[in-house]
Amino acid sequence: MIQTNADEIDIVNPSPKKNEGFFEATLRPQTLGEYVGQGKIKDNLKIFIDAAQKRKEVLEHILLYGPPGLGKTTLAHIIARESGVSIKVTSGPAIEKSGDLASLLTALEPNDVLFIDEIHRLPKAVEEILYPAMEDYCLDIVLGKGAGAKALRLDLPKFTLIGATTRIGLISAPLRDRFGSTYRLDYYEENEIEQIIERAAHILKIKIDRGGKQEIAKRSRRTPRIANRLLKRVRDFAQVKASGKITGDIAHDALNMLEVDSLGLDANDRRLLSALIEKFSGGPVGLSSLAAATSEEQETLEDVYEPFLIRIGFLARTPKGRIATPAAYEHLRVSMKQAKGQTLL
Ligand SMILES: Nc1ncnc2c1ncn2[C@@H]1O[C@H](COP(=O)(O)OP(=O)(O)OP(=O)(O)O)[C@@H](O)[C@H]1O
Ligand SMILES: [Mg+2]
Repeated sequence: MIQTNADEIDIVNPSPKKNEGFFEATLRPQTLGEYVGQGKIKDNLKIFIDAAQKRKEVLEHILLYGPPGLGKTTLAHIIARESGVSIKVTSGPAIEKSGDLASLLTALEPNDVLFIDEIHRLPKAVEEILYPAMEDYCLDIVLGKGAGAKALRLDLPKFTLIGATTRIGLISAPLRDRFGSTYRLDYYEENEIEQIIERAAHILKIKIDRGGKQEIAKRSRRTPRIANRLLKRVRDFAQVKASGKITGDIAHDALNMLEVDSLGLDANDRRLLSALIEKFSGGPVGLSSLAAATSEEQETLEDVYEPFLIRIGFLARTPKGRIATPAAYEHLRVSMKQAKGQTLL
């Protein structure tokens, strides 16, 4: 139930959680055809969208989750576009009060997509408004306070909620259960990352050979956003230090200079692993101690650094805390040795 006076409702600025910049916007694929990889999800979505269109029904609510930079926001926009509907964008932290969400919901047109990024950060009271909105397309409002208060049920247009999160574990069961389908985006294959680099190089008119693509892909942590970012940095290097064309050797030198190692770990990842190994003898250590030792937020460690380190088997979460694996010890040793041999590091 929303406790509000009509004039207390603020219009929420439907801007994305952060300005991802012109660069990311230009590279963002617009259609499922342009979206590289995630084959199973794309196949499912095609059927899902086709079926809804054939039945002339609104698309069911969709939850997208997975580590940062794998393409959740991109996919949400593509789903709306492929369904021929408009998308309104907001994020969990931007919706502070029930009234914020109410004004967003009542402003929707039939069949619209409402995209809530970082949906795990919705306040609990706001989340409860979503339940009837998702299930019955209605909004329960209480006007006024005390004895004179009036309960009101407002009908909403049929809409599709697309939620995105890096933290599926933080989404309450009642909210999770109200999504018609849930998709987990996984890290990309190296050859898919090469295709993404090729596509981005084409759009940005960057000259790059096969070796260049392979070298950048190898160090991109299987993440499209990182691949695009590294491509741009390597281009700068190629323009200043070479003829402008990115070759394997140039990418190799540029990435070493950026302190991105052969597995794609950067200075922050190595700092985290060396803190774990040197200060806590490889663990097990609790997240809060690790955060304090690295001066990082716990959430950043969990969302940004850990998923990939866990995925490559360098870090493990145990009931007693985080531990560094023998592979992490070995990699750090090799990487330190290489660093000593390189003047640029
Ligand atoms: N499948 C893909 N094919 C091509 N490019 C992609 C793909 N997925 C993502 N990208 C590129 O990576 C960038 C980052 O993707 P996006 O912003 O959708 O990630 P995200 O999962 O929403 O990340 P976050 O959790 O940080 O919000 C996009 O701008 C786009 O250029
Ligand atoms: Mg996003």
